Amino acid sequence: METSAKSLFEQFLAPLFGQLIDREALLQLRNRIDWEAEMAAITNPHLVYPDYYLNSDFHGVENGYLSIDAAITYDPITQYVLPPGETWVRESLVNAIQGSPRRILDLGCGTGTTTLMLKQRFPQAEIMGIDLSPQMLVMATHKAREAQLEIDFCHGDAIATGLEERSFDVVCATLLLHETPPAVSKAILRESFRLLTPNGQVWLLDGNQQTLRAVDWLNTIFEEPFIRDYGQGNLDAWLGYAGFEAVRTETIFWLHQLSHARKPVAATVATPHAADVLEPDYVDFAPIPAV
Ligand SMILES: C[S@@+](CC[C@H](N)C(=O)[O-])C[C@H]1O[C@@H](n2cnc3c(N)ncnc32)[C@H](O)[C@@H]1O
Repeated sequence: METSAKSLFEQFLAPLFGQLIDREALLQLRNRIDWEAEMAAITNPHLVYPDYYLNSDFHGVENGYLSIDAAITYDPITQYVLPPGETWVRESLVNAIQGSPRRILDLGCGTGTTTLMLKQRFPQAEIMGIDLSPQMLVMATHKAREAQLEIDFCHGDAIATGLEERSFDVVCATLLLHETPPAVSKAILRESFRLLTPNGQVWLLDGNQQTLRAVDWLNTIFEEPFIRDYGQGNLDAWLGYAGFEAVRTETIFWLHQLSHARKPVAATVATPHAADVLEPDYVDFAPIPAV
């Protein structure tokens, strides 16, 4: 008997999404955008893509996020995979940000859904979104333009943004860390620490690690190459290790978690070298090291 090499995603979810998605609307959207010109405008030709990004097919899509198809189907699919509702889940982060930040950075911003919400909540703030995929950034730019929101989208790597240290009051990321190997996630947290002003806030909304550990089939379903490793980790410990204090994680509707921490007021920042950034793994459940 021939066994199926198809993943759960290919067998069940892709056909289901195929039914739910309005293909005609997607085609029209694709045709409304001048991809060649927009990609040329946003692409940083000097950017070197990390290996994990080039060599992984996220959600089973060939070329992962480096494709126009991925960029135009991302939003229509994502609305169905964030129960109890995409906007409600994203608002848990956007509405939790404290004070009146002047500059906010959204790491791995993708098509910019959270980035746009940040600008709507903090219209006076300067908002920047950064992502490795020019295609996702073209979609984000298109959405911001349609919504008449001024947002700076930038083609870059969240591990090493090249942005000025201590220049953001808030650094956040939604749905990024389950997509990166844990060593990369830890490097992203160190870069966030470097970018934040003293007392600056980091906010991270992502899959719930406890739930992912307890319910293994969730790891299989979406063809995320690093989600199981992410679920085995402990974001609170990673944040503590990166130097943050007042680390706190709350569960959002069982499936998601919102993590928050602050950069100590007295923090001194030494820009890490790449070799230090991709440090060897340490035991995730060890006590958080003193900073
Ligand atoms: C699941 S999507 C999340 C997009 C968006 N934040 C959201 O909430 O819908 C993950 C995004 O992270 C981006 N990404 C992955 N690794 C990255 C890195 N090292 N630096 C910047 N972006 C990265 C991908 O290109 C993709 O757009």
